[in-house]
Amino acid sequence: MSTETTVKGSLGVPMKRKEDPRFIQGKGNYVDDLSFPGMLYMCIVRSPYPHAEITNIDVSEALKVPGVKAVITGKDLEAAGLGWLPTFHGKDKQMVLAIGKVLFQYQEVAAVFAETRGAAADGAELVQVDYNPLPVVTDPFTAKKDEVLLRPDREAKTNQIYHWEVGDKDGAEKALATSEKRIKQRMWFPRCHPAPLEPCGCVAFFDTMGRLQFHVTSQAPHVYRTALSLVTGIPEDKIHVISPDIGGGFGNKVPVYPGYVCAIVGALKIGRPVKWIETRTENLTSTGFARDYHMDVEIGATADGRVTALKVSTAADHGAFDAAADPTKYPAGMFGVVTGSYTFPVAFAEVDAFFTNKAPGGVAYRCSFRVTEASFAIERGMDILADELGMDPVELRRRNFVKKEQFPFPSALGFTYDSGDYHKTLDVALEKIGYQALLKEQAEKRARGELMGIGISTFNEVVGAGPSKHFDILGLKMFDSAEIRIHPTGSGIVRTGAKSQGQGHETTWAQIVAEELGLDPQNIMVEEGDTDTAPYGLGTYASRSTPVAGAALAMAARRVRERGRKIAAHLLEVGEGDVEWTDYKFQVKGVPSKSVTMKEVAFAAYTNPGQNEPGLEATHYYDPPNMTFPNGAYIAVVDVDRESGEVKVRRFLAVDDCGTIINPMIVEGQVHGGLTEGFAIAFMQEIQYDKDGNNQNTNFTDYLVPTSLESPHWETASTVTPSPHHPIGAKGVGESPNVGSPAAFVNAVVDALSPLGVRHIEMPVTRDKVWRAIRDAEAKKGQS
Ligand code: CDP
Repeated sequence: MSTETTVKGSLGVPMKRKEDPRFIQGKGNYVDDLSFPGMLYMCIVRSPYPHAEITNIDVSEALKVPGVKAVITGKDLEAAGLGWLPTFHGKDKQMVLAIGKVLFQYQEVAAVFAETRGAAADGAELVQVDYNPLPVVTDPFTAKKDEVLLRPDREAKTNQIYHWEVGDKDGAEKALATSEKRIKQRMWFPRCHPAPLEPCGCVAFFDTMGRLQFHVTSQAPHVYRTALSLVTGIPEDKIHVISPDIGGGFGNKVPVYPGYVCAIVGALKIGRPVKWIETRTENLTSTGFARDYHMDVEIGATADGRVTALKVSTAADHGAFDAAADPTKYPAGMFGVVTGSYTFPVAFAEVDAFFTNKAPGGVAYRCSFRVTEASFAIERGMDILADELGMDPVELRRRNFVKKEQFPFPSALGFTYDSGDYHKTLDVALEKIGYQALLKEQAEKRARGELMGIGISTFNEVVGAGPSKHFDILGLKMFDSAEIRIHPTGSGIVRTGAKSQGQGHETTWAQIVAEELGLDPQNIMVEEGDTDTAPYGLGTYASRSTPVAGAALAMAARRVRERGRKIAAHLLEVGEGDVEWTDYKFQVKGVPSKSVTMKEVAFAAYTNPGQNEPGLEATHYYDPPNMTFPNGAYIAVVDVDRESGEVKVRRFLAVDDCGTIINPMIVEGQVHGGLTEGFAIAFMQEIQYDKDGNNQNTNFTDYLVPTSLESPHWETASTVTPSPHHPIGAKGVGESPNVGSPAAFVNAVVDALSPLGVRHIEMPVTRDKVWRAIRDAEAKKGQS
């Protein structure tokens, strides 16, 4: 029999993205592209005040606007039992529309439904809301004083949401006290926003069977279905969630937002489809901010640079509701990875979270739940320690890395790192960037008074939530799933519980299945995001798709292979035990001339299965035994203009180790995108509030998103240390560049300014901050 239809080696191939032709031709199918007969538009009335009592809402003028069909307020929702929405973290609830008072500027107060977007907006303008302003709290340190109680609806009469800790507090403090060297630095990871290209939105309607059809920009469609059922009381079988093409999510499209509930209520009340697409300002002001962690980092070390202890204490600003989308048992996410790539004998981390009059959130913005904050803390901390020790930051890192023979490595804060070769990844980076030559150049420039900096970040991560014994969201265990159906002619369809938002799953999932089955990845169709067809899964965020859904796919493919083996035995007229899968085909053991391809087996599964069950399909629900721990060595080279404070990123090299690489071109694209986000966070982005709680960054002229003109040229490379527990050895990669790069950028700028005595500079590292740091340092030197 022929083997010509076998396709070998689909893994590790830079296959062009199957989804791109439709995206680059403007043929994507996004929520805002949808239109249904009789569809209405919804517009939300938002609060201009960050903290105020609502004394009256008058909707009568709004209802007079031609085309306006209805207006709903918090009181209407409360009467229907829908006044509050549980947050994903499960320990708090969030008002859908304000009831009694507002807690942040731009909070949702009323929803207007009309025949056109314009009429809905006109109606919203005319909703008259009377406010009685209240004192405003805009930072966690003021919140901690409890002088203004923001959430009297809660049983605990304090602004503190929780205290969380991990590790050995006494041990860490004692070790710090007795360490030969010790550093302590307050560092703030500012509030930033994922700002995906496409903002959030939905279309809701009840079909002729009374079933809710909910098209939505969701990174986790099945979780939405369950959450909507729990919130609205609609039986889950009567809810169909469809997440079509999504224009970027980055964690912003994980939570269920008030606008979604309002659209559903409007559709039910009026009996017509309702579309709600938020504006850019709504997106930046009310949905899913990230970070806002104030961290005190203390590291102890011996005089020759061996770390002895780590302590990190954090004040976290969660805004008005605790809407951080963290797994239930991990209120501060995976912040425990703050020991980084290093062998700390003892460590302690704690997070105190507070309510403030700011938008709620704390989403995992391209980050495995607070890993970015943790990574920044340790990678900045190591540089400050190197400065204290007068040691090259590279040497300090090398001296303290977990060695490759120490894996699986139990970290001081409870994670078991699966694999890595941190020394090798760093060596590749140093070699590629020409570190020694850069040091020489820097010394020469310093002698001339010029400011050049080299910044290193040798971060590690924890991605792929997760083992279900530890991880759940709203009680839903964090497994994931895959279903494969192979058609008679050897093509197939694959569905998973993940949901791509631009990451290229349609391509990489096809590559995994093709590799396992010796089929053509071009003929493996991938479908995600439809809860009626996809198997239940927890969705895509925190780089969990490859570690969890990707693993489920490989396992499901292996099940298909096992079923195929029976059919192959029938075709080859031997016992099943005599058939082996070798060189991408079934073969009689030791007889290469007697073989059948998967394509032939697929045809036989429908035409000649023998005594075997017809058809060729399999499903697998995968519960990972551990997280995966990708790592990287990033190096930034900057020149700082002494007079203006302008920073030029001259070079940036990212060497990533994400285990087995499915598609190197996609991985490179992921790294480019994440580095651009990290660059923006490091140098230009911050959601700021003035002292009165007014959001200062409500659009893209105030919240800067770099284009290719502003972005540095990215150099990339990789090392491969497979994950020992993942079926194909892959780890996640999507978030690595966002996680690892901010520290490299800031370390580079501080390194450039270090001859002036500068030890730290807060993000975003704007030109004025750098200018000010230089002027202050010069003034200090002048005085001494
Ligand atoms: O969960 P999310 O899809 O955002 O992140 P990911 O699992 O890190 O994957 C991002 C993209 O990179 C997907 O298309 C992956 O299949 C691909 N990838 C890869 O080709 N090789 C890896 N080792 C990891 C991810």
